Amino acid sequence: MKNYSADHPGSYSCQAWSSLWGPNLVHVLACSALVLVFIMAAMTSTMVQASDPDQLQDFCVADLSPTNPVIVNGFPCKPSANVTSKDFLFTGLSTPATVPTTGIKATATFATVFEYPALNTLGISHARLDFGPGGVIPPHTHPLASETLYVLEGTIYTGFVSYEGVLYAETLKVGDLYVFPKGTIHFQINVGTTHAASLNALTSQDPGLLFVANHLLASNIPDAVLETSLGINATALKYLQASVPPLEGF
Ligand SMILES: *[C@@H]1O[C@H](CO)[C@@H](O)[C@H](O)[C@H]1NC(C)=O
Ligand SMILES: *[C@@H]1O[C@H](CO)[C@@H](O)[C@H](O)[C@H]1NC(C)=O
Repeated sequence: MKNYSADHPGSYSCQAWSSLWGPNLVHVLACSALVLVFIMAAMTSTMVQASDPDQLQDFCVADLSPTNPVIVNGFPCKPSANVTSKDFLFTGLSTPATVPTTGIKATATFATVFEYPALNTLGISHARLDFGPGGVIPPHTHPLASETLYVLEGTIYTGFVSYEGVLYAETLKVGDLYVFPKGTIHFQINVGTTHAASLNALTSQDPGLLFVANHLLASNIPDAVLETSLGINATALKYLQASVPPLEGF
């Protein structure tokens, strides 16, 4: 029988049982059960870690420019003696953003840990979306957060594509909420004739943002890979790459 103790420190006690009972069937069964327990424990701890970790104190206002930065999962805390009530206030979403009149005709204003350091370790952030008539936030995903969208103004058609490839979408009016589960591709379009806006909440201090078309076409992935993946030739790929509107402000 394979000597598990040599390869797997976690099954060390199998060796002790082995010397006590000898390498019989009981030993084999006991070791198998022990290995199974370790596998189940490992799976359970992965499930517990599936979202931003819980904070270890009431707050940890991010110090975005420590003099001697250390790499941590988040940011180091400002000394609490330096923290004031103003740290917890963010006024950057209070007014409509200027929306470009060409391209996607929409913009997003973020309140993530980078703009709002008080969010550090708290597992939440916000964004305000502003749209001109016909404005679109192109299909994108946040790898680290689920998101809700609350309509402040106008009429917005929005939806997400599930992991199974099913589109769930609705036309929303002022006061309506929609939710985009973590990691799903979603989009918004202003289907009204006036300005539209929404306030969005996300379950991470830094949700991540991947625009499907831009990340694919403006990446450094070799042309041969993109041509085969999209089923197009070099001319068509160049055309697509030149067509994708720039995402100013994202
Ligand atoms: C905290 O306040 C002290 C005294 O005003 C200042 O010297 C120090 O740079 C501040 N530290 C941070 C991280 O803001
Ligand atoms: C590339 O693909 C386009 C679209 O299918 C086609 O019109 C064009 O003739 C192709 N060009 C070459 C050089 O094969």
